[in-house]
Amino acid sequence: MKSLVNIFDFEIDEINEVFSKVRELKKLSPSNNYAPLKGKTLGMIFKKSSTRTRISFEVGMYQLGGKALFLDHKDLQWKRGESLSDSAKVLSIYLDGIVIRTYSHKEVEDLANAADVPVINGLSDLLHPCQILTDIFTIQEHVDDLKKIRIVYLGDGNNVANSWINGAARMGLDLRIVCPENYLPDYNILKIAREETGKTNGKIELFHDPQDGVSGADVIYTDVWVSMGQEEEAVKKKEAFKAFQLNSDLVKKSGKDPLIMHCLPAHRGEEITSEVMDGPQSIIYKQAENRLHVQKAILEYLLEN
Ligand code: CP
Ligand code: NVA
Repeated sequence: MKSLVNIFDFEIDEINEVFSKVRELKKLSPSNNYAPLKGKTLGMIFKKSSTRTRISFEVGMYQLGGKALFLDHKDLQWKRGESLSDSAKVLSIYLDGIVIRTYSHKEVEDLANAADVPVINGLSDLLHPCQILTDIFTIQEHVDDLKKIRIVYLGDGNNVANSWINGAARMGLDLRIVCPENYLPDYNILKIAREETGKTNGKIELFHDPQDGVSGADVIYTDVWVSMGQEEEAVKKKEAFKAFQLNSDLVKKSGKDPLIMHCLPAHRGEEITSEVMDGPQSIIYKQAENRLHVQKAILEYLLEN
């Protein structure tokens, strides 16, 4: 039984197998009778807000012939003190898989360890694996060779940055994280990823100057400066990130015509300008669309096996 808590839960061959399945799924006509998850039910526990993750998993299960149950954490006995391990055992009786979006990453790991069905991390404070697997797939659709491009992540060293580091390390990509010195990605993730790049021929660099950092970028990716749960730090963070806005002047510093990416939701006029977000190089809505296709392939891979 396999879960997706961290991109490192998947070997490179498994990621490539999922990506091949995505290409097949994208070719299916809407009127197909493809229903590999008929009779299967996915539980979706959310402690944080979501538009894309919630809806794409729910619609994805429906399109694969299965059913998704949205479980607001506030309505579960877990919220009233039922232990995580008892909750996991009981949920595993009824469900064939669980998606969880929560604050504590340890909670996702504990749930995956206690459950008898696959657990998928729908975002924790530390990681967002489904997003970055989708992003890598989306880039692959737009470039000739993933291994020959430079991907620049600009902004906060947050859950998205951490999963980018995992993804780049596992897939052997060239990734630059460009963030203020006080907002670094997770130290251990970086350390383990750098060991992994030795095996996969990837390259992970840290920059603190946005103008230097974007030089030579084939892709520039950004995310919100204030992640869910960090609302109290908003004023301080917005000040610290002022020079990190993805605007057309900064895009020009790449010296190229880079693809523009953002996991969404975006705060237009903060971390990215509307001009860049809506510009011809933006593949931001393709990313959002691909969340559905990639997660369908992940669901099929984990729930069928
Ligand atoms: N990108 C992403 O995970 O979006 P949601 O927060 O809307 O799910
Ligand atoms: N870093 C953001 C990602 C949202 C999809 C957050 O955690 O709020």
